[in-house]
Amino acid sequence: MTAPLKHSASVIVDVALGDRAYDIVIGRDVLASLGERIAALRPGVRTAIVTDRTVAKYWLEPAEASLAAAGIPTSRIIVEEGEGSKSYATLTEVSEALIAAKIERNDFVIALGGGVVGDLAGFAAAILRRGVDFVQVPTSLLAQVDSSVGGKTGINSPQGKNLIGAFHQPLLVIADTSVLDTLSPRQFRAGYAEVAKYGILGDEAFFAWLEKNHADLFSGGAAREHAIATSCRAKAGVVSRDERETGERALLNLGHTFGHALEAATGFSDRLFHGEGVSVGMVLAAEFSAQLGMISPDDAARIARHLSAVGLPTRLQDIAGFRQEGLADADALLALMAQDKKVKRGKLTFILLEAVGRAVIANNVEPSLVRDFMQAKLKA
Ligand code: GLY
Repeated sequence: MTAPLKHSASVIVDVALGDRAYDIVIGRDVLASLGERIAALRPGVRTAIVTDRTVAKYWLEPAEASLAAAGIPTSRIIVEEGEGSKSYATLTEVSEALIAAKIERNDFVIALGGGVVGDLAGFAAAILRRGVDFVQVPTSLLAQVDSSVGGKTGINSPQGKNLIGAFHQPLLVIADTSVLDTLSPRQFRAGYAEVAKYGILGDEAFFAWLEKNHADLFSGGAAREHAIATSCRAKAGVVSRDERETGERALLNLGHTFGHALEAATGFSDRLFHGEGVSVGMVLAAEFSAQLGMISPDDAARIARHLSAVGLPTRLQDIAGFRQEGLADADALLALMAQDKKVKRGKLTFILLEAVGRAVIANNVEPSLVRDFMQAKLKA
């Protein structure tokens, strides 16, 4: 894995889940093939597109045009942009709109948007009429490499992120890399944290490739498709071996226990995007692993150096309003971590690192060790 690929028409990654297997279609302009691919999957289907206001401005009409060209009827449901839409209230709105649009058991919900829309629309599809099929059309880098693949869907509870949800696999994922051109640099960077995650947790050679090729990836060169396809292959492999997260899939949560606590402490606001929380969280996981003697401090520093080189936050102090109540308080952060789904009988589960490219699941982490570590980081 040395030279980047040339731009290619499209790459298809298979998520091997037996009779629920599906394709992830990756490439520039593959959105135009949405209609014909859906028609091939289920002739005569009716669809409803769930999207947000910003994505709708750029990509709703091309998506509708592709469906119309294939003779597929569709309707549109537009929600507010942002994490706030992963709520009971918006889920109700979307569900009622899908019923009003007469989406029936054999029809498709199409999630056109980033992680919020994908999680929300996927969950609405999972519960509508006890489950209708859905197609993911991820429009953010984060959604293309992570949230659109693997069937995790859901909304947030006021008590924590993603606490209400279901596993519901899509029937197809269309990851058009040209739609990423309209993302803000900050959103793109936040998604990049999840790309780097695959190298950090399981593929040192990919991480080394990213260290060399990230500039081409950020500027829209062929490295972008290569990185997205490599990330999706890694995720597809894990999901096909452990769909329900009874083991290996938990490794994909690297950086997320710390990250979700930071997101909650900043009110799931623009102060910290999910990918930014994951970036800080991965560095904290690496440094905590180093403190436990599991990884060398040099390897932990290498991870922080790369994430910082692409402009991602890597320290608690990089987060906007760091001194505000809730964020600069180790006990409050620990309480938020304990509320995450990764807690069992009072002991925390963390994904820790033995090397760049080798993550492990650490059950039974003593909360007081984490508290002391966070206390020291808050003072650093
Ligand atoms: N985002 C982690 C997973 O899908 O398992």
